[in-house]
Amino acid sequence: MGAIKLRTAVPGPRSQELMRRRAQAVPRGIYLGTPIYVAEAEGAVIEDVDGNRYLDLAGGIGCLNVGHRAPGVTQAIHSQVDRYMHTCFQVLPYEGYVRLAERMNQLAPGKFAKKTMFVNSGAEAVENAVKAARAYTRRPAVIAFEDAFHGRTMMTLALTSKTHPYKAGFEPFPGDVYRVPFAYCYRCSYSLKYPECGMYCAHHLEDTFKRVVAAESVAAVIAEPVLGEGGFVTPPPEFFRIVVEICRKHGILFIADEVQSGFGRTGTMFACERYGIEPDLLVTAKSLGGGLPLGAVTGRAEIMDAAGEGGLGGTFGGNPVCVEAGLAVLDEFEHDGLCARADKLGKRFAERARRWQQEWPQIGEVRGLGGMQAMELVRSPESREPAAAETKQIVRYCYEHGLIVLSAGSYGNVIRLLMPLVMSDEQFEEALDVLEAGLKAVLQARGAAVQTA
Ligand SMILES: Cc1ncc(COP(=O)(O)O)c(C=O)c1O
Repeated sequence: MGAIKLRTAVPGPRSQELMRRRAQAVPRGIYLGTPIYVAEAEGAVIEDVDGNRYLDLAGGIGCLNVGHRAPGVTQAIHSQVDRYMHTCFQVLPYEGYVRLAERMNQLAPGKFAKKTMFVNSGAEAVENAVKAARAYTRRPAVIAFEDAFHGRTMMTLALTSKTHPYKAGFEPFPGDVYRVPFAYCYRCSYSLKYPECGMYCAHHLEDTFKRVVAAESVAAVIAEPVLGEGGFVTPPPEFFRIVVEICRKHGILFIADEVQSGFGRTGTMFACERYGIEPDLLVTAKSLGGGLPLGAVTGRAEIMDAAGEGGLGGTFGGNPVCVEAGLAVLDEFEHDGLCARADKLGKRFAERARRWQQEWPQIGEVRGLGGMQAMELVRSPESREPAAAETKQIVRYCYEHGLIVLSAGSYGNVIRLLMPLVMSDEQFEEALDVLEAGLKAVLQARGAAVQTA
């Protein structure tokens, strides 16, 4: 018997009633992915307030690599809630914060002395990485990439690339942020082809220092090893090695934003390991907290120590309940082979998606690293015109048929997978069956319409 069970049409009557109340009470700027109101969740299964059961390929946007309510995590949370919930680490410190910092320092790539601070979100972690980089280098500028997403606070919006809906109308943003093309080979900003391009985009950083911003003014280059919201764009293996080498040559720090790619998603604890690079500062959040709000900046000790006492921190950062959850998440990774699982699920998706690609040429590209997999949909392989409306229809078809899946990409035409890594093979096949049916319903109908036109 499958995991998906629908008792009502989706959304059911209770969800619909909550949608009506939401419209009155919540601003429309808060994005609505699905009209489904949750009652319970466990592992990779979600039950809604109407008793419908769904499989989850979204994981609360990549926060549940260890699954909903992973037993070790819920136990750790319960036990901490029964002792104390908040003292503020800067007022009355506690061991959990220190222990989690020690473990993050060990886990982050690079055999050098490291230190870690904790915050409440990915954006806050990025903000603090920039602060640390500026305090250490005493330089102002930061270079970010096209199609990057780093958050919704003002500095992280400055670093984020996509204009609508993230940036438009919220200007001005903090200055001294410069943007360069990413290795998005399917839509190369220089219209070149890999590998004949010789990794032009990476080497072009040197040119940026002559024509856009002086190298000696740049504190850091920040990048997602695999773009998250930008559509799981996965650069060729040598891209980051070249970028990091250029950074080192000019005394520029390299910040890896692994908020979405971290904690096993790509088949290693951090995607940087897949590229063989060691960031000066590693930014994490999402799956670190196993469902609770927790972000971290882990970096070279001398960089993390550059800010003066009181220069870093915040009231709730590294809350005792959240850090206990974080420690339990790391335990799950020690025992449960979740990285290998990410690889296995990712391979299985790629196999099936490549077969779908034979059938529906509107699947322009299947790409990813480990379990961080996606497909980019286009109107035709020749024009590569983004198929954003179709992508929306597929996402909708899926949730109406019991599968929660997310879109992504600067053009909104990418379907990405962020399933809990504890999802069983049977559940994953069932999920992919629904996705396949969604592709068929939307792309086949669209293909037929184009043919008869
Ligand atoms: C790579 C990356 N950085 C930063 C953020 C911002 O994280 P948060 O929403 O927790 O502020 C996100 C969120 O999607 C992300 O994917």
